[in-house]
Amino acid sequence: MTAARKIIVTTDPGQDQAVALFVLLALPKDFDILGVVATAGNIGLDKTQRNARQLLELAGRSDVRVYLGSPRPMRRPLVTAEHVHGPNGLDGVDLPEPSMPLQAQSGIDFIVETLLREPPGSVTLVCLSPLTNLGLALEKEPDIASRMAGVVMMAGAYFEVGNITPAAEFNVYVDPEAADLVLRSGAAITMLPLDVTHQMLSTPERLDRFRALGNRCGLATADMLSFSEAFDLKKYGWEGAPLHGPCVPAYMLKPELFVSRRINVTVETDSALTLGMTVADWWRVTDRPRNVAYVRNGDPAGYYDLLVETIARLP
Ligand code: RIB
Repeated sequence: MTAARKIIVTTDPGQDQAVALFVLLALPKDFDILGVVATAGNIGLDKTQRNARQLLELAGRSDVRVYLGSPRPMRRPLVTAEHVHGPNGLDGVDLPEPSMPLQAQSGIDFIVETLLREPPGSVTLVCLSPLTNLGLALEKEPDIASRMAGVVMMAGAYFEVGNITPAAEFNVYVDPEAADLVLRSGAAITMLPLDVTHQMLSTPERLDRFRALGNRCGLATADMLSFSEAFDLKKYGWEGAPLHGPCVPAYMLKPELFVSRRINVTVETDSALTLGMTVADWWRVTDRPRNVAYVRNGDPAGYYDLLVETIARLP
């Protein structure tokens, strides 16, 4: 029996990230969640911190500590995505106000102090959100880069191009400077970009599988995704909306479902036209450091099987 992996989660839920949180929360023997750092992104921090606590309570995991991250990106004004996720970010469900507390310590200090305290190589950063809080932690204490077991992040795009601009994926676009800091940090980074998340489509049949579980988290999953899919179905015209966030825990649980390559990824932080673009040297035509395990493909059937069987374990 291998020990549960110690993780710190950064998240701005967001219906897709709610499902990712459900997966992480459903498997305490796999994931020892040291803390969740609420991030400004899909909606403002005032709502992401509330959403995170609501989801923990829905999943019966109010034991997990929630910390406040930064209310804005490192160097830019916040860009949000209510047009996708609704004004509250978890539209599709109506959850009770949370009763569990927020931690008093700032999310950035929590990340730094945890990584300096825990044995080197024992804590993985699970980044579902813009990378603001990890970027600020790295800026505050650069030594944490060598102490992380790694970073697994939903971020970026290359072959699938951008979703918030023609060139940029949302998480990176919100805070390109933070993404740049993380990509240059020397940490062991695994990146799950739109190239793979766009293969994971929540078709009506797949949504029905969540609903058929009959538990409150399965029903909430179906209801949340049935709300957030509207924008993507109209935009892409596909049979289902891409389910981004859960690719991160799914990769950690079953990497055999995915195909990756070690390459260089560099982010644009200056150009107004391509700000936030993640330039992936897929054919290795440069001598830039191969700083990322770039996940380009995945197995949708295996992915949804994993999500359904995992969420079935929740209340
Ligand atoms: O580009 C996809 C990402 O943007 C996901 O994290 C989704 O929640 C949105 O924040």
